[in-house]
Formats: sequence, structure tokens, C-alpha cells
Amino acid sequence: LRLSFVHRAMKQQVWSSQHHLQCQASFKVAILGAAGGIGQPLSLLIKMSPLVSTLHLYDIANVKGVAADLSHCNTPSQVLDFTGTSELANSLKGVDVVVIPAGVPRKPGMTRDDLFNINANIVKTLVEAVADNCPGAFIHIISNPVNSTVPIAAEVLKQKGVYDPKKLFGVTTLDVVRANTFVAQKKNLKLIDVDVPVVGGHAGITILPLLSKTRPSVTFTDEEVNDLTVRIQNAGTEVVEAKAGAGSATLSMAYAAARFVESSLRALDGDGDVYECSFVQSDLIDDIPFFASRVKLGKKGVEALISSELQGLTEYEQKALEALKHELKASIEKGVKYAQKQA
Ligand code: NAD
Ligand code: LMR
Repeated sequence: LRLSFVHRAMKQQVWSSQHHLQCQASFKVAILGAAGGIGQPLSLLIKMSPLVSTLHLYDIANVKGVAADLSHCNTPSQVLDFTGTSELANSLKGVDVVVIPAGVPRKPGMTRDDLFNINANIVKTLVEAVADNCPGAFIHIISNPVNSTVPIAAEVLKQKGVYDPKKLFGVTTLDVVRANTFVAQKKNLKLIDVDVPVVGGHAGITILPLLSKTRPSVTFTDEEVNDLTVRIQNAGTEVVEAKAGAGSATLSMAYAAARFVESSLRALDGDGDVYECSFVQSDLIDDIPFFASRVKLGKKGVEALISSELQGLTEYEQKALEALKHELKASIEKGVKYAQKQA
């Protein structure tokens, strides 16, 4: 993606003003939690996409002002605001992609799992509404702990009889964005060229960058591999500590989520060459029902899980993969149990 949609959006504006808005925009996107730290910059980036015709902003408060502000940008999409549970259903009608960054963020000293008690119920309630109002939409879950909130969403959709595993995504794009940035910095590479797959989950040691699969091919010393892996795994905490109580990553997350939305829209639009890493239902690793890997996206969601990147791992990566299984499995089971208990 490489923010090409920003440039395309700008070019489109010049073109549109000359040709009376004959644009290609056609998809509806809803953001649930749109007034938050991630929600606001994410809404701005999505407002710049030429593939979006309508942007629905939903939150429990403060969304009217965000929508009024955003609606003055002269990009093609229309912005509509929805406040509170009474407007949730309407915010989802006819939507193609639903992005969920609703929920509380970490403070220093907390793990993502410490957010479970609050965010589990928020995600459950929102996904129930998605199931009732736009069951065919792609669902992008950002709310933490992703390793548990995605399984919660899957259970809720199953309970509603509308679960399509190909259309439910845990957003792990920020791990890839970070890995690309840190590797390019360390190895003095042109950022735009670097692509590091990140697999596993989205918390601590469950985040596993496959540095040996970096494109273009790069060699790392053992020390570089360890430093980079640990930095990528702790990058969220790095931001939480720097923000010192004012929340977690919002701007880089919005950038990453916008990239994942744009990739999804390109896939929905028929582009046959769209690949992203995402935490999805998976059979790549025995006994781990959800796993982040590179996936091929198509009109119907996940078209294929890319298993080749999990072959030929280094000893370091193989050990790290073994080490993450226990925690990842436990987080998935926690989410499944929670949703089943609530049913
Ligand atoms: P924030 O507190 O700034 O914003 C959250 C927003 O959610 C607020 O506007 C709030 O009103 C809204 N909200 C709360 N309950 C809601 C509900 N029931 N329905 C709709 N909206 C509701 O937090 P943030 O910094 O934007 O982070 C949001 C979530 O994203 C956190 O759980 C955080 O841990 C997670 N996160 C995930 C990643 C990732 O890589 N997946 C990265 C960064 C943050
Ligand atoms: C991140 O990776 O930045 C997010 O998951 C937020 C967090 O709590 O670290």
C-alpha cells in the first residue's frame, strides 16, 4: 500500500474537480470507537481513500464533532455520525468493512490481557450488532487483547449463525509496520522495499517476526536477530511507557489499520494481488485455532493462508514459535470460554 492511496486521493481530487466527481469510490466503511485515540486519525486516513463512498463513525460519545470536522475535507466520501447504542444498528446497515478500535488502552505496568475484563464485553456487544446488521462485512478487530477478542468475536458470530471465518480479522498490521521500520533502520535499507512477515499473535512473545523471511533478503547476526525480535515484541510497551499514562499507540496504529482497510477494499474491488499478515482462524499450527500469518485477500475475505513462510525457519524462530504456543492457546481459550459463558 505504502500510503499510495493518499497520493491517489489527492490526484483524484484534482481530477474530480475537473471532471465533476466521476470517482471510483464505492465501499462503505464503519468505525466503531471513532472518537478515540485511534478512531480519529484512522477516520481521517480512511476519509482520504478513493475507494470509500461513505464513512460511518460510531462511538458512545463525542462523535458528532469528529464527523463535522472530517466532513469538511474535500475527498469523495460522505461522513455520517452515529452516537450511542440506539444508533449502533443504523451505523452498520449496508457496510462492507467494519473496523473496531473501541475499548480501553493500556497504562504503564499493564499487559494487554489486563484489558480483557472491560474490552471483552465491548467487543462482544459490538460484534452482536454487526451480526444482526451487516453479517457479510469484513470485520477488523483492533481492540485488545486481540488474541482473545478475535475468538470472542468468532463465538458471537457462531451463536448468531453468521460466522464466516474468512471475514474475521485481528489487525496485526502494526507489528509488520514496526518490523519493517526497525529492520530498515538497523540495516540501512530503503524503507519502502522492506517487508517482514510477523506471525503468531499480538501480545509479547506471541508476536513473532520472521526475520529470516525478510524481503529483500538480508543477513542478520544472532545479536541483531535477538535485539530486533525483542524490540518488535515490546514496541507497544515502548509507546505505552513513553506516553506515561496517556494511552497506547494511536497514530502508528491508525496508519497500520488504514493500510489494512485499504488492502481489504482493494481485495473487495477485485485486485487479485493483495497480501497482508493478520490474526485469523487458521489450521497452520496444530492445536492453535487462530494464528497470525500472511494471508491472500480476495472478494470473499481470506482466499489462502500462506504456509510457505512457516517452512524453513531458523532455529531461533522455531524455538520462539514453540515458546509462544502455550500463551497463545490460553488467550484464545479464554476468549472462547468467555463468549460461551455469556451466551
Ligand atoms: P481510546 O480510549 O483513546 O479510544 C477508545 C474509544 O472507544 C473511545 O472513544 C471510547 O468512547 C470508545 N468506546 C468505548 N466503549 C465503546 C463502545 N461500547 N462502543 C463504541 N465505542 C466505545 O483508546 P485507543 O487508544 O483508541 O485504543 C483502543 C483499543 O485499541 C485499545 O483496546 C487498545 O489496546 C487497542 N490497540 C490495539 C492495537 C493493535 O495493534 N491491534 C494497537 C493499538 C491499540
Ligand atoms: C500496540 O501494540 O501498540 C497495541 O497493542 C497497544 C498496546 O497496548 O501495546
